[in-house]
Amino acid sequence: EKNCYILGIESSCDDTAAAVINNGVILSNEVATQKIHEEYGGVVPELASRAHQQNIVPVVNQALKKANIDKKQLSAIAFTRGPGLMGSLLVGTSFAKSLAYGLDIPLIDVNHMQAHILAHFIKDEGHSTPKFPFLALTISGGHTQIVKVSSYFEQEVIGQTIDDAVGEAFDKSAKILGLPYPGGPLIDTYAKEGDPKRFKFPKPRVAPLDFSFSGLKTSVLYFVEKNVLENPNFIVENMNDVCASLQFTIVSYLMDKLKNAVAHTGIKEVAIGGGVSANSGIRAALLEAENKYGWTVHIPKFEYCTDNAGMIAIVGELKYKEDMYAENNVAANARMKL
Ligand code: KG4
Ligand code: ZN
Repeated sequence: EKNCYILGIESSCDDTAAAVINNGVILSNEVATQKIHEEYGGVVPELASRAHQQNIVPVVNQALKKANIDKKQLSAIAFTRGPGLMGSLLVGTSFAKSLAYGLDIPLIDVNHMQAHILAHFIKDEGHSTPKFPFLALTISGGHTQIVKVSSYFEQEVIGQTIDDAVGEAFDKSAKILGLPYPGGPLIDTYAKEGDPKRFKFPKPRVAPLDFSFSGLKTSVLYFVEKNVLENPNFIVENMNDVCASLQFTIVSYLMDKLKNAVAHTGIKEVAIGGGVSANSGIRAALLEAENKYGWTVHIPKFEYCTDNAGMIAIVGELKYKEDMYAENNVAANARMKL
């Protein structure tokens, strides 16, 4: 086994992040979250690229400092090649290539979605590590997938959204409710105080392992318009119950699909990843499924759920140990597939 220090760099969306890993243990995991997008109610790609350019060196410096190592000790640089916003990816990709070139060390490209899944292999007492084969439910602002994971790098998408991602469904519904971006975590907060059975929202019918969320925001819009017509204060007065009902609908829809995937594959080892796996409703539902259906459930430590560079660093390390390096003409790929 090679002893190594890998720097991971993540810049696929609106978080500029850097992390250092040493033999599976995260030494630092820094993230600069871009506040600028809040005013616009969503990520503005041009502004994201610019903020990455401003943040990248300070964030990398901070990660090295917290890890208490000098950049000359690094064994390789791992970076997010895709999927994501092209302008954002270009900043991390160019920086990683230059740094690896300057230090004369290997460069390792990482698929962001693969990283959300492999984050489970970070050595940390805060979470458990799945056994192969397992099913991964990857739920974020950009993706909603069920992946059959047979080994680190054998990952097969067996179900996915045909339109919006589940994080978008949370954020767009939150926007309709007048909540600031990103609204997902706020819906979660209000939901904790509300009645999940008070209002009914439809669960779109698609193929057993696929998802559809675009209809949900439309039904939230109609629901709000109809009720506000009768009572202008409807949202303010019922925010907790609306959020709880909405979250209940989304979580039970995700669980229905996972149950279908378990039945389809016979695999009861289940892991989640992506920003939405921070949601308390999905976490509770999964833990309940351990007792109810005999699943073994793996939930990553909170800081490895949302976009982070720790997950890029662990994939970098796994690839480094297999000598899986990037070519020196590697380019960012906004639509990179698993
Ligand atoms: O993985 P991530 O950080 O970035 C993407 O790759 O998209 O995921 C961000 C998404 C956002 O849509 C955000 O609203 C959602 O994850 N999110 C949540 C929660 N925390 C983050 N959604 C529901 N409940 C939460 N607690
Ligand atoms: Zn992500």
